[in-house]
Amino acid sequence: MHRITILTLFPEMFDTIKYSIIKRGLDNNLFELNIVDIRKYSKDQHKKCDDYPYGGGAGMVMMVQPIVDAFRSLKLDGAKVIYTSPRGKVFNQVMAQNLAKYEDIVILCGHYEGVDQRAIDILDAEEISVGDYVLTGGELPAMIMVDSIVRNIAGVINAESLKDESFSNGLLEYPQYTRPEVFEGMAVPSILLSGHHQNIDRWRKEMSVEITKKNRPDLLKD
Ligand SMILES: C[S@@+](CC[C@H](N)C(=O)[O-])C[C@H]1O[C@@H](n2cnc3c(N)ncnc32)[C@H](O)[C@@H]1O
Repeated sequence: MHRITILTLFPEMFDTIKYSIIKRGLDNNLFELNIVDIRKYSKDQHKKCDDYPYGGGAGMVMMVQPIVDAFRSLKLDGAKVIYTSPRGKVFNQVMAQNLAKYEDIVILCGHYEGVDQRAIDILDAEEISVGDYVLTGGELPAMIMVDSIVRNIAGVINAESLKDESFSNGLLEYPQYTRPEVFEGMAVPSILLSGHHQNIDRWRKEMSVEITKKNRPDLLKD
């Protein structure tokens, strides 16, 4: 079974992810989500996990000892380790698909000004960012990564749904409609009611190209 282990100072934040498709995947034992509280591994009598940065500067830095001890307690030597970081490569669908192939993934969530570099080096963690902006902590990025990784684990969602999704074929998805047929004078495109699957596929492809051209022309360059 696939297992994703999160190292965090704020384990309660991950309660918010256990809904909908993620909950069903967990309930059906398609993957396991293991949330580890780094603070439990602090050797400080007050369970302190951060300290001032060497060299000076604003803010605090997460200490190496609790992180390394938390990681080593897991005994997950072959795991793929990720550190959520604005310095990292920007996360995308291809990365989510590739990460879904690993049996064991560990995600280290930073906080404050980040983590002591030695923790990143000892864990041999790949730095991955969720975008070119700075967040307060790595918990939301980790949840984004978990959500998109587990969608790509077999059985979590219908394989057919993955096929046409945005980015799956280098394009963004076509517009979707459901009932009613007319809402406040706005009708569903008649082609979707025609029952002619070839024409519907052609229309969807055209719309995908149009939307991609408008919103993400960079995707069409590849
Ligand atoms: C306030 S940020 C630290 C930013 C760091 N001082 C810098 O300038 O690169 C605290 C933590 O949030 C997480 N984080 C913030 N922005 C992120 C992003 N865009 N992608 C992934 N993680 C992020 C990282 O784990 C980071 O260590």
